[in-house]
Amino acid sequence: MKIIVTGGAGFIGGNFVYYELKNHPEDEIICFDKLTYAGNLETLEDAFKNKKFKFVKADIADRKAVYKLFGEEKPDVVVNFAAESHVDRSIENPEIFLQTNVLGTQVLMDACRKYGIKRYHQVSTDEVYGDLPLDRPDLFFTENTPLHTSSPYSASKAGADLLVLAYHRTYGLPVTISRCSNNYGPYHFPEKLIPLMIANALADKPLPVYGKGENVRDWLYVEDHCKAIDLIIHNGRVGEVYNVGGHNEMANIDIVKLICKELGKPESLITYVTDRKGHDLRYAIDPTKIHNELGWLPETKFEDGIKKTIKWYLDNKEWWQEIISGEYQNYYEKMYGDR
Ligand code: NAD
Ligand code: DAU
Repeated sequence: MKIIVTGGAGFIGGNFVYYELKNHPEDEIICFDKLTYAGNLETLEDAFKNKKFKFVKADIADRKAVYKLFGEEKPDVVVNFAAESHVDRSIENPEIFLQTNVLGTQVLMDACRKYGIKRYHQVSTDEVYGDLPLDRPDLFFTENTPLHTSSPYSASKAGADLLVLAYHRTYGLPVTISRCSNNYGPYHFPEKLIPLMIANALADKPLPVYGKGENVRDWLYVEDHCKAIDLIIHNGRVGEVYNVGGHNEMANIDIVKLICKELGKPESLITYVTDRKGHDLRYAIDPTKIHNELGWLPETKFEDGIKKTIKWYLDNKEWWQEIISGEYQNYYEKMYGDR
């Protein structure tokens, strides 16, 4: 099988490239990535050593480039990870989120129609369901929960999901969608909660917790997400949405305290800062459908996954220190300078 992985130089896409090369050595993987601030060829360093791997630098919203690639490669499967993925950036500048997440998705699906594929898989997010109240632990997102977005990021992802389902119904495009909860693990860009706290704690810098730190996220080790997507592209039913999450809800403040403990840093580094606008309170996935239909279950427990992740950041300092020493400093100053 020949698989185009868009956004494969990012966090989850990069992990997915390695998952596929390891678990399906017979498959060819073509990573198609624009290399935005979040894309990093260092992440793919080991993939480049594999003859089954190829990299193409381009924008998924660039119709000419996308059609050229599809015409030359005739892929069997497309897995679309490419996106602007950070909620805080979407609050500052929504436009690129619509451009990449909605229009880029449309261009990819047009190419799939024109050149024919066996499967188009859209990597979506639990954020399309909006949030759940903190005082109703009995409530979870199912695939039937209405879409109810909060941020420009989640609205753009929901827009893309609707477009994907419309291309299935209208044109018969063989699509699937996964909606996953918060991932963590190696190659996570340092703007996101867990790697940001690790990097700051190691530098004895303040740990900026939004609001009271009581917001809840449902954390999943990235490899478990990759496995879910792999199962869906091979055995998932066309036209279906699958929620992916491991029943691992944690309040932000507890994550930050855990990171302090693991790194032997004082909790006095924790600094409460102005809350995110429109901040979603709680995400919690009900993964019954993917479990029943595809036998998927998360394999990495949070207590093991967070230790592995922290060790990875300690062992791979060059990877993230290079990122945070560049343009990221301006971003950090803008977002956190006088927060
Ligand atoms: P990321 O920001 O780490 O990586 C995004 C990648 O997409 C980068 O390599 C970037 O260069 C590339 N990209 C961006 N715009 C592009 C464009 N126009 N054309 C081609 N490539 C482009 O993101 P991530 O956290 O790895 O998320 C990947 C996908 O998974 C996204 O679609 C996101 O919505 C979804 N998702 C993420 C999480 C999470 O916890 N990180 C959870 C659920 C779903
Ligand atoms: O749920 C899936 C989503 O998870 C994905 O669709 C997104 O692409 C991904 O970025 C992630 O979104 P979140 O907004 O949940 O992730 P983030 O790491 O930005 O924030 C996690 C929580 O931590 C959130 O409640 C905000 C809070 N936070 C975040 C940062 C960066 C802080 O308190 N301080 C911070 O500095």
